[in-house]
Amino acid sequence: MERNEPCWCGSGIKYKKCHKAMDDKIKIHALKGEIVPHHSIIKTPAQIEKLKASAAINTGVLDYVAERIKAGVSTEEINTWVNDYTYGHGAIPADLNYEGYPKSVCTSINNEVCHGIPSADIILQEGDIVNVDVSTILDGYFSDASRMFKIGKVSERAEKIVRVTEECVELGLAQAKPWNHLGDIADAINSHAQANGYSIVEDIGGHGIGLAFHEDPFVSYVTPKGSEMLLVPGMTFTIEPMVNEGSPDFFVDEDNGWTVYTEDDGLSSQIEYMVLITEDGAEVLTK
Ligand code: MF3
Ligand code: CO
Repeated sequence: MERNEPCWCGSGIKYKKCHKAMDDKIKIHALKGEIVPHHSIIKTPAQIEKLKASAAINTGVLDYVAERIKAGVSTEEINTWVNDYTYGHGAIPADLNYEGYPKSVCTSINNEVCHGIPSADIILQEGDIVNVDVSTILDGYFSDASRMFKIGKVSERAEKIVRVTEECVELGLAQAKPWNHLGDIADAINSHAQANGYSIVEDIGGHGIGLAFHEDPFVSYVTPKGSEMLLVPGMTFTIEPMVNEGSPDFFVDEDNGWTVYTEDDGLSSQIEYMVLITEDGAEVLTK
């Protein structure tokens, strides 16, 4: 791209005054053999505005759930709340019909790692820990986040794994800044999980997000410091480690084809933030 042409990002500013310096810097990393992001996953200012609007609704859904969730509620009711709030705000739940997924939200309880399917037969019990994973499409722009909820008084075991998961995500977030690598986030998360005697699920991870639910890159939380894709301003992806009490091994429900359980029946906990890499760090778009 010529220095005086309008920048590829659509800002209307000349390339030399917009993304040229960043592109030059990326090129140096690429020449060293590093994995670098393609322009197609670097969001433009206009796209970032759209993503923020989608993400605001996504956070609104999680807040709506947070105000209502308690013992005695069925996970089907959570699904209804998600539908009510999302459609009520002119958006669409991204999970519904995603690769055949039958509901609008994932509700994963205790030994369920992820992709728990809401059902009128599943009633939240005092002592449960449950992940509610919400994804929203507004005007074609995707957002995605999940929280852990403790139902009433939970065991010390449950309390600890939820706390450590929060810490893992925050430590990962602190590494989410330009010119770091995805492996820096992973290493911060994995080290903290291991220091607490936990493991991180390996084959299911995070993802780029924006114009599609799951964009490049795949985001692992077990890769070494300094490895994997270079982070540059305008990238949007999720930080969503699955922390297991025991082994990281899991299996998928044979009957529904979705729900993932811990192999050893131990607890599993997950928190998901969707982040935007900025000029000097990261902005959490929804959590
Ligand atoms: N929200 C999940 C994620 O973090 C994806 C759920 S896909 C579904 O990527 F089909 F199970 F809903
Ligand atoms: Co996600």
